[in-house]
Amino acid sequence: MFQPDLLKNKTILITGGGTGLGKSMATRFGELGANLIISSRKQEVLDQAAEELRQTGAKVFPFSCDVRNPLEIDELLKQTKSKFDRIDALVNNAAGNFISPTENLTEKAFKVVVDIVLLGTFNMTLAVGKEMISQGNGTILNIVTTYAWTGSGYVVPSAAAKAGVLAVSRSLAVEWAKYGIRTNAIAPGPFPTEGAWKRLVPPGLGFEKKMKNRIPLKRFGKHQELADLASYLLSDGSGYINGEVVTIDGGEWLKGAGEFNDLDRLPKTAWKIMEKLRTKSKKK
Ligand code: HXC
Ligand code: NAP
Repeated sequence: MFQPDLLKNKTILITGGGTGLGKSMATRFGELGANLIISSRKQEVLDQAAEELRQTGAKVFPFSCDVRNPLEIDELLKQTKSKFDRIDALVNNAAGNFISPTENLTEKAFKVVVDIVLLGTFNMTLAVGKEMISQGNGTILNIVTTYAWTGSGYVVPSAAAKAGVLAVSRSLAVEWAKYGIRTNAIAPGPFPTEGAWKRLVPPGLGFEKKMKNRIPLKRFGKHQELADLASYLLSDGSGYINGEVVTIDGGEWLKGAGEFNDLDRLPKTAWKIMEKLRTKSKKK
């Protein structure tokens, strides 16, 4: 799909880059010639992922860093400087989430998710953004989801935090364009990952099948599809895209939004009967 050197000479920092979608994006960036910095809380997970990512030929620096902690972010950037001259792109992908009736949440339960997703994204963006400002360019890509604008029951902390991240993306797209920094977002629908499925898909209730059926394309996303979209948005080929949120969900959220979309459950015979009645009444 792309020239094999699409991201050559770019250094890309991916938070949550040792697992799930973060790792899949990192793999694709590596295949396309980028150098990689991957971070998350667990060094051993990062080290294992780095081994695999090096198979793409990429130079990979795994460094543990909690996005909630500015001191750890400073240390990450300090260590990074001894490995790479600059950071060309930041992918804010790290997240925390779980499903729960909202009335059962404690303040701490709300805060833990908002701190990772919104505050964490802000902390990383501020620290790496300052580097990008001094180098005169950069690209920021935030991973949100479609309920950032629709909202969703049972994931209120995540919905609130992702909405905040989307607002940060759009705000900085305008404010930091003068520094040569583009800021965009991707809103994925469901893409199977261990981290998300374990926390969001209740086991043994046929829930996964129902999730799939809600999607007009009747399937979940493939990691490579998301990774290719992210690669494009970080590449120079998307140089005029700034402040956009690109949805990649097989049409899922629009299906939920359209007032009459559930009519696809209506059997063909019902449509035929309605057509007969309509033409009959026209003849009269
Ligand atoms: C209610 C819960 C809860 C649950 C935790 N809490 N899980 N409350 N239901 N299922 C509450 C705890 O009781 C506690 O509050 C507070 O939250 C902090 O919990 P800890 O377990 O101490 O937190 P911590 O160990 O820091 O773990 C953070 C985490 C965890 C967010 C809870 O899930 C995590 O580490 N997640 C990281 C990866 C992740 O979530 N990946 C999925 C991303 S998928 P009290 O008051 O009791 O002490 C995604 C998909 C979006 O975002 C869209 C899909 C379509
Ligand atoms: P995942 O594998 O659980 O990814 C979350 C990552 O964030 C993990 O690597 C985790 O590593 C890291 N992380 C969590 N807390 C952190 C912290 N405080 N500091 C630094 N890193 C932290 O789940 P995923 O499905 O790939 O999700 C990736 C992104 O896609 C998230 O932003 C998610 O909201 C988004 N998304 C996913 C889906 C989906 O269907 N999978 C749909 C829409 C959006 P540690 O626990 O080791 O820190």
